[in-house]
Amino acid sequence: MNHSSIRHLIEPEDFTKEEILKVVKLGEDMYNDPSKYSDICNGKILASLFYEPSTRTKFSFDSAMLRLGGNLIGFADANTSSAKKGESIADTIRVMGYYADIIVMRHPKEGAPKLASMYSEVPVINAGDGGHQHPTQTLTDLLTIKVYKGQLENHTIAFCGDLKYGRTVHSLIRTMARFNAKKFILISPEELQLPSSLKRQLLDQYDIEIEEVRYLEEVVEQIDILYMTRIQKERFFNEEDYLKLKNSYILTNDKLENAKDDMIIMHPLPRVNEISYEVDDNKRAVYFEQSKLGVYVRMALISKLLEVGPYVRG
Ligand code: CP
Repeated sequence: MNHSSIRHLIEPEDFTKEEILKVVKLGEDMYNDPSKYSDICNGKILASLFYEPSTRTKFSFDSAMLRLGGNLIGFADANTSSAKKGESIADTIRVMGYYADIIVMRHPKEGAPKLASMYSEVPVINAGDGGHQHPTQTLTDLLTIKVYKGQLENHTIAFCGDLKYGRTVHSLIRTMARFNAKKFILISPEELQLPSSLKRQLLDQYDIEIEEVRYLEEVVEQIDILYMTRIQKERFFNEEDYLKLKNSYILTNDKLENAKDDMIIMHPLPRVNEISYEVDDNKRAVYFEQSKLGVYVRMALISKLLEVGPYVRG
């Protein structure tokens, strides 16, 4: 089944740069004055189908829809749904499209939201699929960069931690390449390096310098945006490999001594050990504000895909 006129967000490339900029700009306006938008989703229903745990993505979407005047259905544990009885994603999505106007899906399998979008009569938003993509985290990250750095272009961005399985990294790095990043610095143990296919794609498609190092201290003075990530325990095939790598990075204030004054530290969260709690009070730390901004950019995204509020047609 192909409902070709319906827009979905499965990966950041589903939107043009202009569309991304418009969503980010609207997200900023919704952040500054949410009351202007408090009823644009009256009568609309958002279904969130989370086959994998979440705090920020699930509840920021819930909060976003409620702040727009809409309603919610869905599950945070697929074991309470008929997936437990063996129902396919295709069948679940067909039915949920009768009950909701827009669907947000997280799934441990790469490509599951894409498959869902092929059977859906309503917009589907990928809320994270395995180690693949997390496009709404990217929108959140872009709004954070816009708010704290003033512009999206021309930054040196360091990605630190699990670059192999980190879907937030995979989505953001491709998007920042589209927004003319100055340089990418990849900080990871050898076992968790950015997938070579993605690195090759960045080098072939964009004229961006990429430097790979093992330790943050080697490059800290160059960085405009430090994007820390959690080692993704749930993606490892065995516990022993995870235990070996789990404390690869622990950011402390000492390690930031030579950092630029206006560098920002981001993290999609949740964190485990990779940022020491003392860094929370560092003026460069913006990761909690980042999770707050996620609500507003998701409000803007819902408005775009439902064609309501500023996106209303005609
Ligand atoms: N950043 C993020 O995706 O967090 P959750 O897993 O809590 O949704």
